[in-house]
Amino acid sequence: MTETMDQIYSSWANRLRKNQGIRSLMDDLGKATGHPDEILLGGGNPAHIPEAEEIFQDVFASLAKDPNVKSLLGDYQAPIGNDHFREVAAEYLSPLLQSNLKKENIAFLNGSQNAYSYLLNLHSGPMADGSFKKILLPIVPEYIGYADQTINEGTFIANPPNVVPTGKNRFRYELDKRSFDLTDVGALAISRPTNPTGNILPLSDLEWMEEKTKPKNIPLLIDLAYGNPFPNLIGNEAPIHYESGRTISLSFSKIGLPGVRLGIVISDSDTIETVSSFSAVGNLAVGNLGVYMMELLFQRDILPKLSINILRPFYEAKRDQALALFTTAFQKMGVDYEIHDPMGGFFLWIRFPSLSISNQKLYHLCKDKRLFIVSGHYFFPGLNTDFSHTEECIRLTYCRKEEELARGAQILAEIVASHQAKSK
Ligand SMILES: Cc1ncc(COP(=O)(O)O)c(C=O)c1O
Repeated sequence: MTETMDQIYSSWANRLRKNQGIRSLMDDLGKATGHPDEILLGGGNPAHIPEAEEIFQDVFASLAKDPNVKSLLGDYQAPIGNDHFREVAAEYLSPLLQSNLKKENIAFLNGSQNAYSYLLNLHSGPMADGSFKKILLPIVPEYIGYADQTINEGTFIANPPNVVPTGKNRFRYELDKRSFDLTDVGALAISRPTNPTGNILPLSDLEWMEEKTKPKNIPLLIDLAYGNPFPNLIGNEAPIHYESGRTISLSFSKIGLPGVRLGIVISDSDTIETVSSFSAVGNLAVGNLGVYMMELLFQRDILPKLSINILRPFYEAKRDQALALFTTAFQKMGVDYEIHDPMGGFFLWIRFPSLSISNQKLYHLCKDKRLFIVSGHYFFPGLNTDFSHTEECIRLTYCRKEEELARGAQILAEIVASHQAKSK
């Protein structure tokens, strides 16, 4: 059987066929049965927030009534969007990203996941000069969806972060500047806020890295799926601006429109042109619905205010609710736990230092009870040194209803409590 697979599928295909994290997570999300006992704390679906949904439905209704709907349904865009929409985005995003953007700096893709599948391959692998370039993840854990996006195996490099205690049962990951090494690096990638931890890398760390990367012309990819200017789930941290040497990606998913599949890449014109070539080959064209909705949302100047007035307060309240529910359940059951400071995004990253089973096994035990979480081991692509957190951590979303979070907390606490080493 395996031999046949090797014969008919490429090594990349065979690598993807092994159950990778992003597939397992999205399968869990898509296969939810709606059973009342199901507790869906695994995937990255945003919450259904009525105030936001009303705005999106209104925009959708306006489009449906517009005579241009014929074009929305019946015409292809250019591979990364028609110039008109790129101009609209450049003009609207310029003040928000403190830069003077032109349409040549803008590309639309079918989600930022799609954008990264091009960006990571565009900067890594065999180069014209015979070298092999890699993607450095300056801090792991990092977004599960990057792993396996590169056609070439062994493309990611990463070092363990510094683990800094920040309070009782709390910690934070910080950049380990001593192990920062740019040998063979084609690009750096960070998400800010970081999925899975909710960490927000200080601007001073970004600037420190750029002092090293800029002289070597190594681009810094900054994934703002949860960041500014929308959904802006960055607490009190400073926003990111665009400047040369950076490639920024924005997404419509976490504002509440994951089904629309719109990602926006902001970069220098050469990178945008290259992304356009990838998109023509991989997609022919970006989908229309997202860019048409974007035009109305930008014209009506809705998203920054929606983010600050509705989305951020909603997610911060959910975070506090989840923290209270999970810490109460853990303490009641005598669970040994630590939570990464949740500074942004909408996940909790929890470490169980005394866990006597792997986090993968914990995932399966939870799934048996219809509780879906994500095992943390997937979030360390490129890390080849021992780091106990790879086996001890899990990620869960707090985008769900209070009652579902409470049941999830209870089940998780019970399972972990019965699988703890006596002394550690
Ligand atoms: C950090 C990060 N980047 C990118 C994505 C991909 O999002 P989308 O393709 O929906 O824009 C996600 C989705 O969860 C994410 O968490």
